[in-house]
Amino acid sequence: MKTFLKTGLGAAALLVAMQGGAMAQGQLNLYCSVQVEWCQAIAANFEKASGVKVNMTQTGSGETLAKLQAEKSNPKADVWFGGTGDPHLIAAEEGLTTEYSSPAMKDLHDWAQNQYASSKKRSIGVYSGAVGFGFNKELLAKKKVAEPKSWADLLKPEYKGEIQVANPNSSGTAYIVIATLVQIMGEDQAFEYMKKLHANINAYTRSGTGPIKAVARGETGVSISFVHDAVTEANAGFPVGYATPSEGTGFEIGSLSIVAGARNMDQAKKFYDWALTPDAQKLGYEVGKQLQMPSNRNAPLPPNAPDLTKIKLINYDFVKYGKSAERRRLLAKWDAEIGALPK
Ligand code: G6P
Repeated sequence: MKTFLKTGLGAAALLVAMQGGAMAQGQLNLYCSVQVEWCQAIAANFEKASGVKVNMTQTGSGETLAKLQAEKSNPKADVWFGGTGDPHLIAAEEGLTTEYSSPAMKDLHDWAQNQYASSKKRSIGVYSGAVGFGFNKELLAKKKVAEPKSWADLLKPEYKGEIQVANPNSSGTAYIVIATLVQIMGEDQAFEYMKKLHANINAYTRSGTGPIKAVARGETGVSISFVHDAVTEANAGFPVGYATPSEGTGFEIGSLSIVAGARNMDQAKKFYDWALTPDAQKLGYEVGKQLQMPSNRNAPLPPNAPDLTKIKLINYDFVKYGKSAERRRLLAKWDAEIGALPK
């Protein structure tokens, strides 16, 4: 009896210790704003690397910012991975995210470290990509419409009802489009331009990648999108081409931030450090065929990724357009002057 009790207790103790070990790794609530295949891959691979259980939710950059704002007094997420950099800067300014300095920072490109400086240590760059036009080569050829090469081209009557772009309230991509046009043309002219462009737009989608997926399926001729997403569709066998506007274009610093008041702070920091490693940064391409430029200098540039050094990029003012009041003002103006126009 004594021996039985002893062994029984020993086994129970062992079981408790094992469970304790697994539980000690804990869990992580991840908000993710890149394409869903990539989000799933980072969740699964981080789980494998760390033993931390990951609960992942994928939503666009603007939508994720709105969720963090709504949950401010009772945060549900621990970390926010990906999505355009401006909403991450706004989250930083509004105190929705918290300061963190990763030892991996020294391995990152300057533009990624600039995001850390602009956000006062509350965000960092994980990838970068440029805005441009995606188009369905077969559809345009069939309709005898030229491939667009400039912002000015998009206003031509031949593109009537042929262009898609996302809604800037939910999509960080579409917010970058507004900020880019304002920086290239000046605000008055940019809004005049967007009013004219409205005649050629057939839909403002919720997600930034909706338009390029519609181009790939032949549902629309042209999209305003990140050009790396156009190459992803072309690599998947769709007749998709891309161009970057001759007047110049904006770009994103896809970012990473830790939520202020995160319940799983240790796991959030562990994830943050891991997400900046070359191994983690390779996953976007390996698993999701994503073609952004990774922020770690030692992570390889995916094959066929658009070369940002060959694109005419504007000197995008991340600090100005990453301000909460400026974004709110521009979005309200867009809603009133463009979004409210009849279709
Ligand atoms: C895609 C792109 C990312 C970008 C994201 C923004 O996933 O590949 O580079 O950061 O869209 O999404 P959103 O829906 O906010 O425009």
